[in-house]
This record gives sequence, C-alpha cells and structure tokens, in this order.
Amino acid sequence: MSAEQNLDELETQLMQQISTAPDAPALEAVRVASLGKKGSVSALLKTLGGMSAEERQVKGPAFNVLRDQITKAIAAKKSELDIAALNARLVDEKQDMTLPLLDDPLLEGRLHPVSQVMEEISAIFADMGFDVAEGPDMESEFYNFTALNIPEAHPARQMHDTFYFEPDENGERLLLRTHTSPVQVRTMENGEPPFRFIAPGRTYRCDSDQTHTPMFHQVEGLVVDETTHMGHLKHTLEAFLAAFFEVDDMSLRLRPSYFPFTEPSMEIDMQCRRDGNQLIVGEGDDWMEIGGSGMINPEVLRHAGVDATKYQGFAFGMGIDRLAMLKYGAPDLRAFFESDVRWLKHYGFMPIDVPGLAAGLSNKSLSGK
Ligand code: PHE
Repeated sequence: MSAEQNLDELETQLMQQISTAPDAPALEAVRVASLGKKGSVSALLKTLGGMSAEERQVKGPAFNVLRDQITKAIAAKKSELDIAALNARLVDEKQDMTLPLLDDPLLEGRLHPVSQVMEEISAIFADMGFDVAEGPDMESEFYNFTALNIPEAHPARQMHDTFYFEPDENGERLLLRTHTSPVQVRTMENGEPPFRFIAPGRTYRCDSDQTHTPMFHQVEGLVVDETTHMGHLKHTLEAFLAAFFEVDDMSLRLRPSYFPFTEPSMEIDMQCRRDGNQLIVGEGDDWMEIGGSGMINPEVLRHAGVDATKYQGFAFGMGIDRLAMLKYGAPDLRAFFESDVRWLKHYGFMPIDVPGLAAGLSNKSLSGK
C-alpha cells in the first residue's frame, strides 16, 4: 500500500468518524485521536522531521491539507451538534404557562393580615387623594405629647402607659410613640397647607390582655384646608369604612369625647349587628367603637407652623388590628403577633394579590381560599 493510499484511507476513516459522531463528547474523542498530541494526524506531521528535504516538500503540504480538512470538518460538525442540542433543550424545557402555580415553594409565604389591611387602607385613601406619611417609632416627648397640646403635668401623659427610654445627658428621653398622632405635626411642619394624608404604623403602650398588645397598629388621618369641617370628617370616615368593609352603606355615630389635640373630639362608632358569634357591619342597631377623631385643636396647628387663623381641619386615628380582626374574623389579637406559621397560613394573604379598588380589595383569586 502506498503512502498516498494510506493518507487517503486515514482521511476517509476520520471523515466517517466525524460525520457519524452522535454527540459532542464522541466528536471530542475523534478530535483527540486525530489532532491531539498523540493523535494520528499529529503523528504523521511528526514524521516530516525525519524526511529528506525533497520528500518533505511533497508530503508536508499533503499532511497540512489533511490537518486543515479534519479541523474544519470537526468545527462544522461541532456547530451542527450544538444547534441540535439547543433545539432538543428548547423542546424539552418548554413550560406550560397555563399551569396553576400551586405547590411552588415560593407560594408558601403569606402576607400578614395587618400588612394586607394597611395596603387596603392606603389603596382606599389614595383613591380619595390622600398621601401616605410616615414618622419614627422612637419619638420625642415633644412630638408625642407637647406639640399635641398634652403638657407635662397633663393626666393624658399617664393615661398613655408609655414605654420610655433612659434619659440622655441633657435629661431628654425618647419614647415609643403611643399613637400615630405625632406624624400630624411632623408632616405639617415639613410642608405647606392644604394637607390631606394618612399615616399608618406601629404604636406602643404598656398594656396586654385579650384585646391589647404592647405593640399595635394605628392609622392616622388628617385634612387641613381653609373650609374643612366636620361634615367632611364624617363623610370621609363613612366612605372609607364602606369601601374597607366592602358594603354599600355605612352609618357612623360620632360620640362626644375628649382628646387634647382635637376640639371638639368624637369617638367613632360603626353601625353593626351581632348574629350569634358573627359581627355584621353596616347594618343593625348596635355600635362598635373603632377610633377617635375631631377638629384639630388650633394649638396643634400652631405647633406645626400652620396659620390657625386661616386653616382648619380634622384628624382621626383608628386601630388597624381591630379593623383586621373585624374584617377577617380573627378572634384573638395576641395571635396576630405570635408568629405561628399555622395561623399565618390560615389568616395570611397571597403576596401577589395586591389590593386595589379596581380588582377588588381582598381579592384572593390564587390563594385557594
Ligand atoms: N391619637 C388618638 C388615640 O390614640 C386617636 C385620635 C387621633 C383622636 C386623631 C383624635 C384625632 O387614641
């Protein structure tokens, strides 16, 4: 057999192996066996060193042609195999987007009812044109009391069962805010009237029983303009509560009360009816207290730098936890803050069901409830 024949045979054999390689590893094995350090083509090229100049002139180009052909054939086959592998993956990994999202570990998480209710409250008031304001949980005595017309010796300071921090070197002590009312002053002093905002958040009082926890949640509301009056207050509360409880009508009773920061002051009572253990709101002849309200005391406006001869307004404060308990039927307030996952699984909300007025406030489409 001549050397040319040998070369032709090797070429045929390699081309055959390349074209029939079923996958990338098989192709790689052909490459190593031919072009690799100890491969058949490399071995041929190595023989050039021991040849005479004439012989090398003939065989050198032939060997190089073979090497280039094999290299190109392997590259072509490689891209062919890559495309085939990608196509196979695309077919294989196709996802059915219509499958329900159940049993996904990501869907195990739940939104706490308090978070849900805060979102609902914000959605309703945002629709009425209210901003959402915030203030710190650690508050000064000035914002929590003094600016709200509760002077130092005032019995209301004791009434609040306040958690105080240790005084600093100047004798000043911070406290955990006992209500969201300090956000009234903080927000007004940083802006210009008219004002229309709510301030949901955490509040703290040294108190604990079936209906009180040391940490709880309130939502403050405030409207200040030149002609704001009590009719606006009543309508705002009625519209909010009807939307929140998803009922057509809501009657309120504003019962005379006392808060140093409002004058006059009213307790907000919501119409309801008890049916066995169930409480139905918006009908019946019973009443349920859900917060305090009143026309803002001009003293508070002055503390916040608002011209009290030109502006007036109303404020209210409601317990968010109580609203959540009433709407979603959770009987014991303490369970809200025990972080029991079984409780949360039962009373919690799917994080993707964002409350909005268009899609429904408490829409639970995917939660399976
Ligand atoms: N801050 C009061 C409370 O915690 C509620 C309230 C807010 C009353 C605003 C009147 C106006 O009891």
